[in-house]
Amino acid sequence: MMHDFNVTRNHAIFMDLPAVFDLELAMKGEMPIRWSDDYAARLGVMPRNGNDAQVQWFDIEPCYVFHPMNAYEDGAKIVIDVARLSHIWRDGPMDFPEPALHRWTIDTQSGRVTDEQVDDTPAEFPRVPDAQVGVKHRYGYMMANAAAKAFEEPLNANGSILKYDLESGARTNIDVGAGRLPGESSFVPRANAANEDDGYLMTYVFDANTESSEFAIYDAATMDDEPVATVALPRVPFGFHGNWVPATTAD
Ligand SMILES: [Fe+2]
Repeated sequence: MMHDFNVTRNHAIFMDLPAVFDLELAMKGEMPIRWSDDYAARLGVMPRNGNDAQVQWFDIEPCYVFHPMNAYEDGAKIVIDVARLSHIWRDGPMDFPEPALHRWTIDTQSGRVTDEQVDDTPAEFPRVPDAQVGVKHRYGYMMANAAAKAFEEPLNANGSILKYDLESGARTNIDVGAGRLPGESSFVPRANAANEDDGYLMTYVFDANTESSEFAIYDAATMDDEPVATVALPRVPFGFHGNWVPATTAD
């Protein structure tokens, strides 16, 4: 199962990981994807103007990744930041370990890939500003408390939006409040933005205390807990991804 892939200026990078289709499970009407200890984990680097015959494969430690944050080229190296899980669906369909931010660095000359854990805080739905996709990013945003438990017991959750400064190593967060959970945050740049983080994080926040939701806009530069603005909404079911599309766009 390949959930997502990466792009850089010159390459597409595929994540071939040990979550495999199982026909027997499918025939039994169960979720047809499971973990395999026999299937190797590898990253495939393909030139964007090339084809599948030109994919160069690099072995990595077994793991699972649904969502990369971003990928970029650094000379002969390719850097990929991902929300990495140690495995997925090994002990059944509820086996869902906590994800955390990792950085893979592919050395295309030596053929080696290093895997560096950036943080051990459980977090998912990583994003960078759309303008940084495929090129070097300084900042990445994630949803903390993204463990399945938080969704099962949102009243006990204390959701937050994380901001990683991958240059300084600092991590800051927006605390959205007790019993409240954000969704994936979409970064929207301020008009004539001077810096990469000069803009807004837009998301839905579900409030389990009132069984209602809001569309919330936060300041990505200051990461102030107070939203810039909110729009009260009836309950919006948990989705997975989020995107902002302006009503009008410049030509
Ligand atoms: Fe996804």
